[in-house]
Amino acid sequence: MNCSENIELENLYASSVLGKVLFPNSVIHQRVCQIGKAITDDYCKKEPILVSVLRGGIIFLTDLSRKIDLELSIDFIGISTYQGSAKTSTGVVKITKDLEETIEGKDIIIVEDIIDTGLTVNYLLRNLKSRNPASIEICTLLDRNIRRIAETKIKYTGFTIGEEFVVGYGLDYKQKYRNLDAIYELNRDIVKRDIEINEGSRNENG
Ligand code: IMP
Ligand code: MG
Repeated sequence: MNCSENIELENLYASSVLGKVLFPNSVIHQRVCQIGKAITDDYCKKEPILVSVLRGGIIFLTDLSRKIDLELSIDFIGISTYQGSAKTSTGVVKITKDLEETIEGKDIIIVEDIIDTGLTVNYLLRNLKSRNPASIEICTLLDRNIRRIAETKIKYTGFTIGEEFVVGYGLDYKQKYRNLDAIYELNRDIVKRDIEINEGSRNENG
């Protein structure tokens, strides 16, 4: 099988997995530019550290960082959560990869792909605050606030979404589809089937 045949097969499979496009890349790009400008204005003369949560936040981070006109730096943190089911996070969280740099006295912006229950980012906030940064704010591409459990103050939000499970532009389903340019809804039947199968498993976040 040659490479193009392979891609056709993947497209066929993807068409049954992916639902409608929620945000085309042009719309994401426009919003990323606006957030980049807002951060540039708000952090004038500062050198913030963008902390991306692996792995979902990395595509957003790489685009966003290039729309911020400041001498910023970038760091990564990995987190895993124990899940009660495919859709319910229990909030039991642990760090699987820590930051490379110390953040004491620095201005930190956490860059997330999506904030859902808010449990993960609240754990992260508590953990990073204990390292005494000068300031710490949250920037998320997507906010699913209807499922929020832990109250979360978000400074920069790309888009607010509803119940639908989404993939693309960094967001995955079983580690796939992160490389899609747009954000898609996942086929509802597949989400439903996985809720039934995946009770009580440990998931790497992101
Ligand atoms: P929270 O602790 O419930 O806020 O979990 C947020 C994390 O769950 C995100 O960083 C994602 O890794 C993952 N997540 C939640 N909803 C989705 C989704 O619709 N698509 C892909 N990942 C998701
Ligand atoms: Mg994430």
